[in-house]
Amino acid sequence: MILDRHDRINTTEIAARLRGLQAGETGFPTAEIDKFVDLMQVYEGAMYEISTKLDILDGEFQVRFEHNPIHHLERRLKSVNSIIGKLERKNLPVSVESIKDHLFDVAGIRVICNYRDDVYSVSNYLSGQSDIQVLRVKDYIKNPKQNGYRSLHVIYSVPVFLSSGAYYTPVEVQFRTVAMDYWASLEHALRYKADLPDARFAEHSQTLLDCARSLQNVEAQMQNIHRDINGAPQSEQT
Ligand code: GTP
Ligand code: MG
Repeated sequence: MILDRHDRINTTEIAARLRGLQAGETGFPTAEIDKFVDLMQVYEGAMYEISTKLDILDGEFQVRFEHNPIHHLERRLKSVNSIIGKLERKNLPVSVESIKDHLFDVAGIRVICNYRDDVYSVSNYLSGQSDIQVLRVKDYIKNPKQNGYRSLHVIYSVPVFLSSGAYYTPVEVQFRTVAMDYWASLEHALRYKADLPDARFAEHSQTLLDCARSLQNVEAQMQNIHRDINGAPQSEQT
């Protein structure tokens, strides 16, 4: 199942938004507007290429092993406002070149898997495909962040074929289990949405760290049951 966080891109709407921003405080160079719209179209293509590859792998696993490794996929393109906001936060010029050179998460896909084994098998099969390249890997499952965040982040470069040729385009893919996703959603809400006094924020952060550890244990135990009933060797790892 693929969940689109937004509708297909509407180039007229993006151009209008950029012109609106330009009229306001955040200047986006006029000459760049058409280039920006073209670029977003390429990112959208890249996002579809990678999600189709993932969907095909999931289908193959279903046929061969009667197991769907992917619970669901979510995909989104970064909004114009988030793109500009991120460039400004990083003190980078607001231009199409700058987006191409510095932002690797304009096209983003989240792959929510049933088990930790699925995270690694799906990501390995995708990374091994001969037409795409792995640009960067951050394994926050083997090395969780201090707050307890776990996920495997991979940035791929995928060719998008247009009438004028192939454009290698980055797509950020976050692979995680259902439990990791459940945790990350609440942690995100705590960090970005809640306007809490410092003491309560700290208390909730600590509780979330405990929850991350508990979820990791539950996940490891359930993974072992799943391996056992599917004939794979059990593992002691947590
Ligand atoms: P930025 O893209 O500038 O943030 O840097 P980066 O690409 O080095 O970041 P990283 O790969 O570590 O994380 C990118 C994305 O992963 C974020 O936009 C979030 O979606 C997710 N993420 C990373 N850390 C956390 C976290 O601690 N909590 C949650 N809920 N999500 C996180
Ligand atoms: Mg990023």
